[in-house]
Amino acid sequence: MVQVIPSILSADFARLGEQIASVEAAGASMLHIDVMDGHFVPNLTVGPPVVKSVRKVTRLSLDVHLMITNPEDHVAAFVEAGADQISVHQEACPHLDRALRLVQSEGALAGAVLNPSTPITMVEEVLDLADYVLLMSVNPGFGAQTFIPRTFDKVRALSRRRRELGLRFPIEIDGGVNLENVAEVVRAGCDWIVAGSTIFHSPDPGAVFAEMQRLAREAVAVRA
Ligand code: DX5
Ligand code: ZN
Repeated sequence: MVQVIPSILSADFARLGEQIASVEAAGASMLHIDVMDGHFVPNLTVGPPVVKSVRKVTRLSLDVHLMITNPEDHVAAFVEAGADQISVHQEACPHLDRALRLVQSEGALAGAVLNPSTPITMVEEVLDLADYVLLMSVNPGFGAQTFIPRTFDKVRALSRRRRELGLRFPIEIDGGVNLENVAEVVRAGCDWIVAGSTIFHSPDPGAVFAEMQRLAREAVAVRA
């Protein structure tokens, strides 16, 4: 089933528990946590201690997006902290196959992420290994950026490839998704839709989440 996944990057960290409770009460089943190291991307965010605290206050499945160099070095700590699924960037992993297997061996679902400038052929050889593939629709590092339209073609191409191979991995999209483009994103073939600023920059995150989820699920009926 298509899922909208709130990204806490744009939440008010002083009221994080309350903001998570609001999207959970509105029907969210997953929560996206952006980990940035100031090297792989030009920004810093949170590490395992925050994941551990979040784990204590929610039953949502925790989707941890590692935008860091040497992600393998930190996988165990994030799983230990409570991550249910961990995605690593192809661009940060010279041994992507090994990194995905490491995440799985630690007991989490493993996602492969591609930056906007990286073609989908770069994950071709791990499509049957990855539990999901995340296509960035902005250059990673910051919330509230503009969706890069070229991503629609990438989603359609990956969705086609998935069908050709008879695989069923979810396609996740991250960056610049809002109430105006969420239906088109779903029609292109996305299953998991990350949304940060649209949800958490609003005075009522739960209501905006519910509206996005409604639009996303309506759009499934008219998928390409
Ligand atoms: C960007 C992050 C995103 C971010 C998306 O590097 O990976 O998860 O939270 O934020 P919006 O939805 O505001 O583009
Ligand atoms: Zn993210």
